Amino acid sequence: MPTLKPEEYHARTKHSLTRYATGPEALDWDAQPNPFRVFDGAPLTELSLDFSGLGDPSYNDLFVAGAIAPQPMNATTVSALLRFTFGLSAWKVFGPDRWSLRVAPSSGALFPTEAYAITANIAGLPDGVHHYRPFDHALEQRCRTTGADKSPALWIGLSSIHWREAWKYGERAFRYCQLDVGHNLAALRYAAALLGWRVTLVPMDATSLSGLLGTDRTEDFAKAESEEADLLVCINAPPLAPQLTASHWSGQANLLDPHPMYRWPVIDGVAEATPSHAALDTDAPVTTSGTLSPAPALSAQTVLLERRSAQRFRPGKLMSADHFRRMMDALLIRPDCPPWDVWTFAPRLHPILFVHRVEGLEPGAYILVRNPEAEPALRAQLSDQFQWNKVDPDKPLYHLVSADSRAALRKLSCHQAIAADCCLTLGMLAEFDTFVAHDPWRYRQLFWEAGMLGHSLYLEAEAAGLRGTGIGCYFDDDFHEIIGLCPGTFKSLYHFTIGDPFIDDRIATHPPYDHIKDRS
Ligand SMILES: Cc1cc2nc3c(=O)[nH]c(=O)nc-3n(C[C@H](O)[C@H](O)[C@H](O)COP(=O)(O)O)c2cc1C
Repeated sequence: MPTLKPEEYHARTKHSLTRYATGPEALDWDAQPNPFRVFDGAPLTELSLDFSGLGDPSYNDLFVAGAIAPQPMNATTVSALLRFTFGLSAWKVFGPDRWSLRVAPSSGALFPTEAYAITANIAGLPDGVHHYRPFDHALEQRCRTTGADKSPALWIGLSSIHWREAWKYGERAFRYCQLDVGHNLAALRYAAALLGWRVTLVPMDATSLSGLLGTDRTEDFAKAESEEADLLVCINAPPLAPQLTASHWSGQANLLDPHPMYRWPVIDGVAEATPSHAALDTDAPVTTSGTLSPAPALSAQTVLLERRSAQRFRPGKLMSADHFRRMMDALLIRPDCPPWDVWTFAPRLHPILFVHRVEGLEPGAYILVRNPEAEPALRAQLSDQFQWNKVDPDKPLYHLVSADSRAALRKLSCHQAIAADCCLTLGMLAEFDTFVAHDPWRYRQLFWEAGMLGHSLYLEAEAAGLRGTGIGCYFDDDFHEIIGLCPGTFKSLYHFTIGDPFIDDRIATHPPYDHIKDRS
């Protein structure tokens, strides 16, 4: 497949009321790809699950600069970073089926994102490029490295196995893989905050990053599904790539799906057309003044590990005005405030909210304009019936129109009841057309930002005693139509819903790491 411009890919992977994006006609659930990548033959370092020495800061502390003293970098704290970002969060059992969940959500629970840790001089860990195994909570050393100076250093790389997602979702899967990258980046930032650590995106082009993570080593992926390197961050250090010499690679990637029934070459096409480039060039982030309203005083570890998606909501719950205010606050970029302090770009996504039940707000449509420079274009391109009444003098939140939009949102969210039974649901309007046309890599950037917004909402919902669910399935242009969006700059890239979860007791929940609980 030749490269495919992201605008063309995006257009052909829209769902609509009359047609879903091209995907498999039937799924054999028993043939789902293995959710766990391993590199057979790579030396394994088992990590501890005992974090009793770390203390238990409150969720609110994560957002207060200096509230959590920085932990030293050692095998236990690196283990905590990995466990609270990429680890398992539970096993679910329903009849004969058993599946695991992870700290970060994933479309269809397919988990296309893989994580790598590049370590140097960290007590208790060998130097090298390691792949993280969430099932075993262990690092497998893909490559030994030399050449670091004497201080401890840590980088985390993310990659995607597109096939995991494409197996179920066909052509639309590339979008979901990128959203998952954004979720994982935000999850990493929150977990680092738990340790008092900073996270910084490292500017690196896609070819160098694949070389560093070893995802370009075709000889190690002979029969296995390929991985595509997405991004690199460094921990507690300036944004520089590791200057290390790779001395020896080991491990063969396992085959995840021995009998793939379909091929979706457009995913390779769009991936090829959107490589990140050397500079990862940054816009100046637009920051918000004013303090973040405090979060409920809950254990941060509990909020991170117990985040879940709601499958159903109990209709009738009213979200409190305080919780709503805090959620909107958490989506705005503030200096030194997770997760947005990792985001070196100007905000390009603006949630358009459909409030069904929020204390003090009339049901209807609202918009949070995360970057004031986008406001004129939003005003010009959204419905001319919208009123644009400011809701709160301190926030860029506007009431657009009063309406009961529950039935419409349910329909537009691929007929999912969660979009109607919730307290609110939202679409994320991205500054798409000119931005992506100018630089195709921006297509990924927009989805990463959307995933980060989704992750903030997941955690805020959890902390508020509610629950969120990401919505990747929605009818793109039909949604644009109900908000009167003219063709032009904006497109909705991800949806989200928050409400009072209905827990299905028929699905049992088991602890994530009982299978290795004897490890100290
Ligand atoms: C990008 C993305 C899109 C999603 N889309 C939907 C959706 O359309 N409908 C839905 O019910 N859940 C959706 N989810 C939720 C996933 O199904 C859920 O994250 C996954 O099953 C793992 O469960 P957990 O979030 O409870 O850990 C989505 C999640 C993500 C990250």
